[in-house]
Amino acid sequence: MSQRVLTTESGAPVADNQNSASAGAGGPLLLQDQHLLEKLARFNRERIPERVVHARGSGAYGYFEVTDDMTEFTHAHFLGQTGRRTEVFARFSTVADNLGGADAVRDPRGFALKFYTAEGNYDLVGNNTPVFFIKDPLKFPDFIHSQKRDPFTGKQEPDNVWDFWAHSPEATHQVTWLMGDRGIPASYRHMNGYGSHTYQWTNAEGEAFFVKYHFKTNQGVRSLSADQGQETAGKDPNSHQTDLLQAIERGVNPSWTLHVQVMPAADADGYRFNPFDVTKVWPHSDYPLRRVGRLVLDRNPDNVFAEVEQAAFSPNNFVPGIGPSPDKMLQGRLFAYADAHRYRLGVNHTQLAVNAPRATSADNYGRDGLMAANSQGRHDKNYEPNSHAGPAQTGAPLSAALAVQGHTGAHAAPEHTKDDHFFQAGELYRLMSEEEKGRLVANIAGGLSQVSRDDVVEKNLAHFHAADPEYGKRVEEAVRDLRED
Ligand code: HEM
Repeated sequence: MSQRVLTTESGAPVADNQNSASAGAGGPLLLQDQHLLEKLARFNRERIPERVVHARGSGAYGYFEVTDDMTEFTHAHFLGQTGRRTEVFARFSTVADNLGGADAVRDPRGFALKFYTAEGNYDLVGNNTPVFFIKDPLKFPDFIHSQKRDPFTGKQEPDNVWDFWAHSPEATHQVTWLMGDRGIPASYRHMNGYGSHTYQWTNAEGEAFFVKYHFKTNQGVRSLSADQGQETAGKDPNSHQTDLLQAIERGVNPSWTLHVQVMPAADADGYRFNPFDVTKVWPHSDYPLRRVGRLVLDRNPDNVFAEVEQAAFSPNNFVPGIGPSPDKMLQGRLFAYADAHRYRLGVNHTQLAVNAPRATSADNYGRDGLMAANSQGRHDKNYEPNSHAGPAQTGAPLSAALAVQGHTGAHAAPEHTKDDHFFQAGELYRLMSEEEKGRLVANIAGGLSQVSRDDVVEKNLAHFHAADPEYGKRVEEAVRDLRED
């Protein structure tokens, strides 16, 4: 094999990559040493801002294959025919810690998917939990501040975490989930994924349905205990990355089965839970799971920075047949992600290979900006309407219109008959085995007992009491025992 020649960024051959050019062998270095200057300057610019949440993650490519035709509910092309395959990129992540954190921690996991469909990219940006801590996007920056490193101590602080939850009774359901057995997944392969929010599907007749996505792991759910998590995080902080990378390199391709719960749009108003409240689930007895297809991951990215760090998922990347629901949190997210990408990656992030459409191409009048790589050619106009047969609108909304009523204003989400902050948290507690209840109580008490203020502890205990009296009593006793030690 002939020796490849090392070059500068502009492609010129490099004469010496070991010794900088100097004025005499022992003298100072020369400003004319282009290779040295370029190498140091480029190195200084290698890092970009990390994601403000979900900074640590792992990604892989694969495909989604339809096993059960969904045309009754949606005209989305990629769901339209049994056997149809669509290329996918997935990124899994922890939420709270910075890039330098560890994988095996108690934290929700991101479950973000980009489907490169023939009608454009569809992003489903979910978590491994079916619910979330809060239900209004206005609370999101405060919530995340309370979970991330404290500006003074530079560490995650139980005082902040539990203080926010003390004032957010709607978090009790998700806190119960997080502190339970699934709170530390053994790996990204061994967890389920959920869209969490309710989305809207529209069929070819224009009928609207509300759906919730459930990706069930075919590897089986496996989790770590609090002790196992600590040990794993210490031994290999990249344990999830190691696991996913090695499994796919070995050809042990992880897969998930997608199911959906489907609610006819007409049910939404009268349902006992507000279907657009992301702190609530729809019991399967109300809306059973219907199988849709299979997600398989079979290829590791060649370059983590280019393809994983620069991956940009946005919940408002919809395709025909799929749209948002009025879930307020989801509505906030429709803005937040592409805004984050413009800050983190720049306005032309959609031109990067991992983010660009693959089964179709972008054709519009957006132009220029930092790092614009696409050229539409000399004949394409950059305005519309035009007389040059440029791309034109279809007139076909992606999803059905929803009726609205009432006055503008800062409203709390409407409450349905069975809506309160605690009922579903209690139901989750009551579903657990005796052993799991014990571990849940120990995990909560382990964190809550470290809180310095009694009033914050009391407020949190009141939430567990409200969810289930036995749950509250056990947490209270466990916290008291630990605080007396
Ligand atoms: C109003 C509430 C929320 C806001 C404002 C918000 C905002 C953000 C932002 C700004 C990012 C970083 C994006 C980037 O730099 O690429 C992010 C990442 C992410 N969020 Fe949210 N988020 C919210 C709620 C949620 C919920 C409820 C879920 C799951 C159901 C979720 C799942 C994710 C995931 C998976 C990522 C990582 C995506 C990736 O792998 O690149 N977020 N979020």
